[in-house]
Amino acid sequence: MSIDKTIKDIQTSFNKEFSTIASASALEEIRVKFLGRKGLVNDLFEMFNQLPNAEKPKYGKSINILKTDITQAIEDKQASFQENTVTSSIDLSLPGIQLKRGSIHPLEAITSEIKSIFQSIGFSIAYGPEIDDEYHNFEALNVPKHHPARDMQDTYYIDPETVLRTHTSNVQIHLMEEQEPPLRHICVGRVFRNEAVSYKSYCLFNQVEGLVVNETTSFAQMKGTIEYFITELFGADTKMRFRPSYFPFTEPSAEVDIWNDKLQQWMEIMGCGMVNPKVFNNVGYPSNIKGYAFGMGIERIAMIKYGINDIRLFYQNDQRFLEQF
Ligand code: DAH
Repeated sequence: MSIDKTIKDIQTSFNKEFSTIASASALEEIRVKFLGRKGLVNDLFEMFNQLPNAEKPKYGKSINILKTDITQAIEDKQASFQENTVTSSIDLSLPGIQLKRGSIHPLEAITSEIKSIFQSIGFSIAYGPEIDDEYHNFEALNVPKHHPARDMQDTYYIDPETVLRTHTSNVQIHLMEEQEPPLRHICVGRVFRNEAVSYKSYCLFNQVEGLVVNETTSFAQMKGTIEYFITELFGADTKMRFRPSYFPFTEPSAEVDIWNDKLQQWMEIMGCGMVNPKVFNNVGYPSNIKGYAFGMGIERIAMIKYGINDIRLFYQNDQRFLEQF
């Protein structure tokens, strides 16, 4: 049989068999049959060796083309079988992808706890501006022009009359300007201070401010409210004390400490007092009106409650910290 005819026959039978392949194992059989060491293409090369030298270039070329075509066809088919295996098979025994569950930020958690404690005793929630004028942040609260708190060192000024509020006490003024007594509100929000950042102070933090105004309230009622709040938040056997203090917007004023058993020391958690009559005067309230106010830093409360020792952790979004809540 001429080598010419053999080449054609092999090509024809390859085409025929190749067109019916349906599995990777059938493909492998065909590969061995045609390209294997004892396969048909190798037989061809043996026939080729017997040819007279003059004919070799012509048939050598045809045999090489045949071999390359078959090899290419088989490789393409192998690749398509592999793709199919990847996309069409689902291994039900593989473990699923673990979806991470988010958690409530500790500040958010403690803030909503604080809010609901006060709501349970009739307080409403109020909000006020973070950017405010000096009047609402200082003057109306009886913080005079040359008070050290107004220093550029502690206060972020946006322009000579506008500040980032340094406390939520500014909301007291807004509330009283907008509403007639009685008032019973807490206000939650961010405050800003230009302080050196360290484990215990940060340039921004959150406060809760309380304001109760009516014709009959008293220092004793304020104490009762704060005691209730502390025992709800920190537990019924929490030791606390009221220490005389000074704030320009309250008179008399006090600071409240709670006993930290772990550290064996008193920790100051809030300021409070009877609203200074000068403040009532500034908002045009009548002189028979009475009120008390209090204010506390939320980060500090969260640090005590959860045993956190660095305020900066609240603002770093480090998952290793956040995942613990
Ligand atoms: N505004 C005070 C501060 O930022 C906290 C404060 C003290 C608020 C006494 C009050 C208060 O309402 O009566 O440190």
